[in-house]
Amino acid sequence: MNKCEQLYEGKAKKVFATEDPEYVIVSYKDDATAFDGLKKGTISGKGVVNNRMSNYLMKLLEKQGVPTHYVEELSDRETVVRKVSIVPLEVIIRNVSAGSFAKRYGVEEGIVFAEPTIEFSYKNDDLHDPLLNSYHAVALGLATREEIENIKNMAFKINSVLKEYFKSLKVTLVDFKLEFGKLSDGTIVLADEISPDTCRFWDSETNEKLDKDRFRRDLGGVEDAYEEMMKRVFK
Ligand code: TMP
Repeated sequence: MNKCEQLYEGKAKKVFATEDPEYVIVSYKDDATAFDGLKKGTISGKGVVNNRMSNYLMKLLEKQGVPTHYVEELSDRETVVRKVSIVPLEVIIRNVSAGSFAKRYGVEEGIVFAEPTIEFSYKNDDLHDPLLNSYHAVALGLATREEIENIKNMAFKINSVLKEYFKSLKVTLVDFKLEFGKLSDGTIVLADEISPDTCRFWDSETNEKLDKDRFRRDLGGVEDAYEEMMKRVFK
């Protein structure tokens, strides 16, 4: 499949058309942003790690019955995916308190929840991705009640698969963000990426952070953390 015109450039990826309207090619960049693009930087090699790791995880999820946009890895940074229209919701699953949850509710990071939580944000940079509940999402016409129910079930299923998988790599899956897309026939599939940009990964013995929080919080060792996650996945 060949790369045709560029359709879109986001903060971390570019999307190109192909000769088939049902497929696009995603190209992962090393650019990193945080806090709605306020903080900018480069994480050398990140595009390769995120592309390869995301593809690996999507294949694992497909085997467990979760439909995804993944089609074929073309190179270290480029992948063919099904063309979708993104449901403008960021779906966040948490197993352990951290980040905005800890801040919003005034609790420490690292509290292991008895059950995972789910929350939705409206994917809208101008509004800074505000938190919303499923009723708000339906009221705004972002998705139907049935679509949200389907997304919720898929998100929890993805969490059970990934939590067990990362446990086997001695990594705690603290929390992560998912995006879903609609195929031309309306089928909802997992889209975007699953990577150290979109997940919190803590070493299960030391709780060392192995994800983008090292960049967000200026902790140093950013590239090493991405490489370490790559090494554990492709051991
Ligand atoms: P949060 O604690 O800042 O709300 O983040 C929850 C999870 O979502 C965390 O694993 C990082 C991920 N995330 C993104 O992928 N994109 C974003 O824009 C934000 C804010 C978080």
